[in-house]
Amino acid sequence: MSESPIKPIHVLGFSGSLRKASFNTAALRAAREVLPDDMTMETFDLSGFPLYNEDVREQGFPEIVLQFGARIAAADALLIATPEYNYSIPGVLKNAIDWASRLPEKPLNEKPLAIMGASNGNYGTARAQYHLRQACVFNNMHPINKPEVLITRAQEKFDAEGKLTDQSTRDVIRKMLESLAVWTRRLKN
Ligand code: FNR
Repeated sequence: MSESPIKPIHVLGFSGSLRKASFNTAALRAAREVLPDDMTMETFDLSGFPLYNEDVREQGFPEIVLQFGARIAAADALLIATPEYNYSIPGVLKNAIDWASRLPEKPLNEKPLAIMGASNGNYGTARAQYHLRQACVFNNMHPINKPEVLITRAQEKFDAEGKLTDQSTRDVIRKMLESLAVWTRRLKN
């Protein structure tokens, strides 16, 4: 009797930067390039979210928020690539999390995730990532702890086309994804 194949872990990735040449969005593309065989991945574009407003929410969630919630719910795990803005996460990312956190289905609840970030400074979004982890606590999400993916001096690690050329960064992203797959399977059992 043949064993049934392992069901792939499906990852939803999103970037907290909207700019075309974003290093963080480029890091998400790199994650797809080094994705382990037992994982699949899609991405969600955070442009187009209205600013969170409780009055708007009371009249019904905007379509993009419903789509975002459905993609989160359908994913086994999340991968968030965050820039660091003023030692914290960008408003774009916080706003999307704020919207998702109010959905009655609570798609973020108990969701495994991995966090990574790229900056052109020497701290590689460390401070932003810890703020993001605080939002994970409120939403009862389960981020992996290690490896941390702090992409410092990003301008030296991506080429002009936004391809991640630094091998050690590619390797740590791959290790993070492997760790996310193990963690997600453990939480599902
Ligand atoms: C930044 N940047 C930045 N970098 C950092 O290491 N710590 C910080 O606190 C900030 N703060 C900050 C605020 C604002 C408003 C901007 C626009 C930028 C620089 C930031 O790391 C750099 O612009 C990255 O390239 C942003 O990520 P993307 O867009 O390349 O993904």
